[in-house]
Amino acid sequence: MNRQEKVYPSLGLYVHVPFCVAKCDYCAFYKETPSHQNLERYLCALLLEMKTIHDKRTFDTIYFGGGTPGILSPKAIDQIIEVLHTKMHKFPVEWTVEIAPHTISVEKLQHWKAAGVNRISMGIQSFSEATLRTLGRKQTPHQIFHAYELIRSAGFSNVAIDLIFSVPGQTSEQLLSDLSAAITLNPEHISTYCLSYENDTVLKNKFGEGSDESRDCDFYEIVCTFLETNGYKQYEISNFCKAGYVSLHNRNTWLMHEWIGIGPSASSQYRGLRYTNIAALEYWANGIESNSPKRTDIIELDPKILAIDEIIFGLRMNEGIDMAKNPYDSQLSSFFRDLCDKTLLMREGSKVRLTHQGRLLCDAISKEVLNIL
Ligand SMILES: C[S@@+](CC[C@H](N)C(=O)[O-])C[C@H]1O[C@@H](n2cnc3c(N)ncnc32)[C@H](O)[C@@H]1O
Ligand code: SF4
Repeated sequence: MNRQEKVYPSLGLYVHVPFCVAKCDYCAFYKETPSHQNLERYLCALLLEMKTIHDKRTFDTIYFGGGTPGILSPKAIDQIIEVLHTKMHKFPVEWTVEIAPHTISVEKLQHWKAAGVNRISMGIQSFSEATLRTLGRKQTPHQIFHAYELIRSAGFSNVAIDLIFSVPGQTSEQLLSDLSAAITLNPEHISTYCLSYENDTVLKNKFGEGSDESRDCDFYEIVCTFLETNGYKQYEISNFCKAGYVSLHNRNTWLMHEWIGIGPSASSQYRGLRYTNIAALEYWANGIESNSPKRTDIIELDPKILAIDEIIFGLRMNEGIDMAKNPYDSQLSSFFRDLCDKTLLMREGSKVRLTHQGRLLCDAISKEVLNIL
C-alpha cells in the first residue's frame, strides 16, 4: 500500500527491545544489559506475547523501539519475524526499526529489509565529539556517517534521525553545525528534543536541574527556523519532515487511535484499555509465561479521557485539533478565544491549532486546559 493512500492508520504495533550496550548519561528509558541469558529470556517471552495477539485488522504501522532494537542478532530478527508475519494480514504502510549507530551491521539491515521494514530511525543526538561526550553517548561522529551510509546502501529510502539540543556547554554555533550536518545527510525525517534532566540519570547528578528555559527557547527557535528554511516542515513540537514523511505510527498514537505494545515497559491503548507492561524483564517474562500479564497504570478508557488527551496531544501538532466532535468545545471556547486574541492560537471553524508563539508555551497552555476541564 502506498503511504499516501492511507493517512489515518488505526492500529499500530509497538515492540519494545529493552537492551543497550552502553547507557547514555541522559537517558531514563527502561533498559537492561544485553547478556546472553537476558536476550534469550526476552526473546522466548516476546514470541509468546506476540502469539497472544488476535485481531482481524492488519497493523497499519509497526515500530520496534528501545533500547536499541538494532542490537538483535540476525537469528533473533528471523525468529521474531517468523511469528510476526503470521499476525500480519498485510504489510504495514510504515514499519520502523530504531537503530543506534554503534549497533548496526549490513547483515542485520538486510534481515530487517527482507522482513518488510521500510523505515529506519537512528539516534544521532549530535555530530560534535564534545557534545556527545557531555551526553555520555558512546559513539563517534565517524560511526554515525558510516551507519548512515550502510542504511542507505541497504536500500532504505525513509530514514529518520534524532538530535538533542541545549546540551550543557553547547553554543548556538555548535547547534547550527549539528543542524547543517543533519541536513547534509538528507534524511526524510528529523526529531529534535530539548535535553531534559531526568531523575536518576548521570546527567542530572552531574548538572542538577541544569535547564535554562530562556536558552532552551532560543535554541528551539534556531532549530525551527533552520529546519523550516531547509525543507523540513514542522508537524509536531519536536518533529520535522520532508513532504509525505510524517511518522504515521506516532501520529496514530497522538490521534488517540489504537496500538498494541509488547515487551517490558511497552504501553498499549487497545480495546477500551490503556496499560503499561511492567518495566522489569523477569516479572514481565514470568507474567507472559504464566498467562497472567503483569501490567501497571491500567485505565479504562471512556470518551471523556480520549477527548481530553486528543486536545492535549493535538495542541502539540501543527495540524491542531478538530473540535467538531469534541465534547469540551464549549467549555474551552472562551479560553481559546483569549489565546486567539494573544495570537497564540488560530481557529478556523471547528479547527484549532497553536501558532508558533503558542507552541513555545504549549506546556503551560495544556496545564491550563487540564485546569479548566
Ligand atoms: C527512546 S529513545 C531511543 C533511541 C535509541 N535508543 C537511541 O538512543 O539511538 C528516542 C530518542 O529520545 C531522545 N531522548 C532520550 N532521552 C532524552 C532526554 N533526556 N532528553 C532529550 N531527549 C532524549 C533521544 O533523541 C533518543 O534518540
Ligand atoms: S538513549 Fe537510546 S541507546 Fe542511549 S541509553 Fe537510552 S535507549 Fe539506550
